[in-house]
Amino acid sequence: MSSILQSLEQAFQTAFSDLGYESGLGAVRESDRPDLAPFQCNGAMAAAGQAKKRGEKANPRDIAQAVVEAVKDHPAIKTIEIGGPGFINIEPTEDVLSERASELSGSENLGIERVDPKTIVVDYGGANVAKPMHVGHLRSAVIGEAIKRLYRALGHKVIGDVHMGDWGLQMGHLISELEIEEPDLPYFDETKVSGYPEEPPVTMDDLARLYPQASNAAKNDEDRMEQSRLATAELQAGRAGYMALLNHFIDVSVAALKVGYGNLGVEFDLWNGEACVDHLIPEMIEEFRRKNIAEDDDGALIIRVEEEDENKDVPPVMLLASSGAVLYHTTDLATLVDRKNEIDPDLIIYVVDQRQALHFEQVFRAAVKAEWYNRDQLYHAGFGTMNGKDGKPFKTREGGVLRLEDLIKIMNEAAETRIEESGIGAEFESSERKEIARKIGLAALKFADLQNQRLTNYVFDPERFTAFEGKTGPYLLYAVVRIKSILRRAKDEGVSPGRVKISDPTEAQLLLALDAFGRAVTASAEKYAPHILCDHIYRVAQSFSRFYSECPILAEDIPDDVKTSRLALAELTLRQLEKGLTILGIETPERM
Ligand code: ARG
Repeated sequence: MSSILQSLEQAFQTAFSDLGYESGLGAVRESDRPDLAPFQCNGAMAAAGQAKKRGEKANPRDIAQAVVEAVKDHPAIKTIEIGGPGFINIEPTEDVLSERASELSGSENLGIERVDPKTIVVDYGGANVAKPMHVGHLRSAVIGEAIKRLYRALGHKVIGDVHMGDWGLQMGHLISELEIEEPDLPYFDETKVSGYPEEPPVTMDDLARLYPQASNAAKNDEDRMEQSRLATAELQAGRAGYMALLNHFIDVSVAALKVGYGNLGVEFDLWNGEACVDHLIPEMIEEFRRKNIAEDDDGALIIRVEEEDENKDVPPVMLLASSGAVLYHTTDLATLVDRKNEIDPDLIIYVVDQRQALHFEQVFRAAVKAEWYNRDQLYHAGFGTMNGKDGKPFKTREGGVLRLEDLIKIMNEAAETRIEESGIGAEFESSERKEIARKIGLAALKFADLQNQRLTNYVFDPERFTAFEGKTGPYLLYAVVRIKSILRRAKDEGVSPGRVKISDPTEAQLLLALDAFGRAVTASAEKYAPHILCDHIYRVAQSFSRFYSECPILAEDIPDDVKTSRLALAELTLRQLEKGLTILGIETPERM
């Protein structure tokens, strides 16, 4: 099944190659001037350029003319014209549009092209045990979930791993702080090596309290800091009581994180963290040494990763600090070993704040040096910051660190206000209205995040995000719900979708938008750019809106075959909008 663009392209490529040019010059794309024609082929100019280089006489308009002669009888082409120096403008026939509509309606994938399946790991979320989440974790969760679903939609096997931060100084902070508060707990008895209680000694609230308490105390007190460092080192050396505590901390945190991410509609396949690869580190270090990749440097163990002919200095990877402690680089490298052993992925995508770009550059270079992976198997999909109106990374009103629950609450409230204002769902029960507000709030937040180019910073503005007009999540939910209600009414009236016959220009334009879905999904995945799919969904919603205002569906004076055709278009639009939104991780209500 190929899209309209693809079938046109095939004809153009054949024409160019029959005329003795590269077939690639027959590339067809959506026109920059849709007022002239929906598609264009601009290969004639390049063909002329190439011919001139070979010393032939060539005029782009003549080449365009020859191509037009070759393709003009193609059944998909309604009009074809040459503009300017040799642009070829193409308009497809209504018949081919109608056929394509039926094809899309009958296809489960709605035009998404399945590819050769690869095994892909998406490393996203990245919350830290006990440390509160910040906006970077939110963006990682939202963007990572979309990227995971994009690749799944293309047919790949995709494994989402939360890769929790659970191995480092924060653990030493927690352990030592707990020891100060409750020195009599069995975990601190050095003579004991097993038989610890099964019940965790702390709750999530305790962890949320202990961590800042310790880190604040350590800030101004070198001795207190030393205690945390020592606890970290003993933990890393495998002290039994500390390991038992670590496992409790992880369990308690994971339970809380599952709820937090769950509320956001984000699901992980693996709840791995840094700690679970610790056992791989000694052998990994051994391998680095054996391969002569690691070297001692002032008591520390490093890997030099600068490359020749580069302008930016990439400092060495730190495998072991001079204290012997393992670092962020070390756990990420050990995780690469673990993933190679357990999953052997074709590609690993790290959805992590762009401010960690250098870290990943270093880690990737070391992994390539060790010949575990090729460079093109490792990709850091960085992202910019969500800022407050002051232009600084968003914080809560109190200026404190962000908690996911608070953010969701803010969005919920903004959505509730909007719903009040617009009178939406006034007739529904309050539980349904609450559920609608929840979905609107989340859609607003996620769409506002995903529609930006990944790397740009943007401003958190709940009011703007929840608007029902413009390029927002709620506008899209509204579009979906409107079609659902049309379909319900049709059902009540006994009208069912039939064969599509495109006749109105707004129908043609809607179908052309729907035809672009497969391309949007592919490009969005390949470029790790969910905003491309956002643009597409918005375009479809707008096209539907134009179509619906020109082409009523259930009005009385409409002939049956027109009704059923328009209804089929509406149904197809709904399926595509819902599929697209699901890929973005956005849920839609039944009504609102
Ligand atoms: N826990 C880290 C942080 O809060 C993010 C982890 C990202 N993933 C990774 N494989 N390093 O910054």
